[in-house]
Amino acid sequence: MTVVSGIQPTGKPHLGNYLGAIRNYVKLQNEAHDSGGRCFIFLADLHAISMPHDPAELHASTLEMVATLVACGLDPAKAVLFNQAQVPAHSELQWLLMGTARMGWLNRMTQWKDKAGKNREGQSVALFGYPVLQAADVLLYQANYVPVGEDQKQHLELARDIAQKFNNDFASEDAPVFTLPDPYIPKAAARIMSLRDGSRKMSKSEPSDMSRINLTDDADEMAQKIKKAKTDPEPLPSEIAGLAERPEALNLVTIFAALDETTPEAVLAEHGGKGFGHFKPVLAEKLLEILGPIRESFVELRQDREVLDAILARGAAQAREASRPTLNAAYNALGL
Ligand code: ADP
Ligand code: NA
Repeated sequence: MTVVSGIQPTGKPHLGNYLGAIRNYVKLQNEAHDSGGRCFIFLADLHAISMPHDPAELHASTLEMVATLVACGLDPAKAVLFNQAQVPAHSELQWLLMGTARMGWLNRMTQWKDKAGKNREGQSVALFGYPVLQAADVLLYQANYVPVGEDQKQHLELARDIAQKFNNDFASEDAPVFTLPDPYIPKAAARIMSLRDGSRKMSKSEPSDMSRINLTDDADEMAQKIKKAKTDPEPLPSEIAGLAERPEALNLVTIFAALDETTPEAVLAEHGGKGFGHFKPVLAEKLLEILGPIRESFVELRQDREVLDAILARGAAQAREASRPTLNAAYNALGL
């Protein structure tokens, strides 16, 4: 089993990142380690330059994100933790795959359409080509497990299409250059929604900080955000069907269930019939129970610049070595 996944080091990591991605990195890191497999988790700093960005801020957030990942339980002794920019094979393979990826495939990416909006002409070429870099990220390590949130499923399908076409066009059937990666999407928390609008996902790019719980929020900030979270005046139903038309209520129940590693049904069985005056404080307490220790460990790690730099340097050296055979095979296959 080879696990590969990445997270952008822009903005503050939030509860959606934790429940939809980081928590699964930790589980898969342990599974891979116990079964003799490998786990690569990278900070997608090369992806971050596809949008307007501040260089000093990007550098600082990269270090903050390593501290966050380690605070959440990623262990540099079990997983290879690195940033893309220190492993040139990522950009190299992206360029090699640019010859295989089709304009039409990229044009269909919903994230491109969402991010570009009406102003496609004004976007960077990197924003358009970004899914090809993402394909390179996972194909370089022959990943077969890619833990991502629901929003990344389409990009992973694109990575499979690129791998398949490249193998068909340039490799013999018995010696494919790339393994086709499978997404690993957690059912429970695949899509945590904004606290202010149940129709949008919780995201770093949402302007209002009240829309998300940051992993770096303190107890008061968390309690305040849950208290102000948009809901409705109805009490919680005792059956999940009762939440069908109540996205904000469903989101809070989903968050509680994910934090408690139980199901929304079980949460409703316990709290059905009660209103948000009761449920919100219970949720805030659960958040603090899970995220409090993570925040404490983050605050401590963040001070230790040398340790963070060392983790990244060691991870990059391991990733450079691990990616070399596939990169060489891709060059060879292309006649380069
Ligand atoms: P963001 O969209 O906040 O900028 P990233 O694009 O860096 O976050 O995503 C990092 C990981 O977190 C990805 O695997 C993504 O699928 C997951 N993720 C992001 N937002 C959510 C969410 N609201 N719910 C569940 N998973 C999410
Ligand atoms: Na995203």
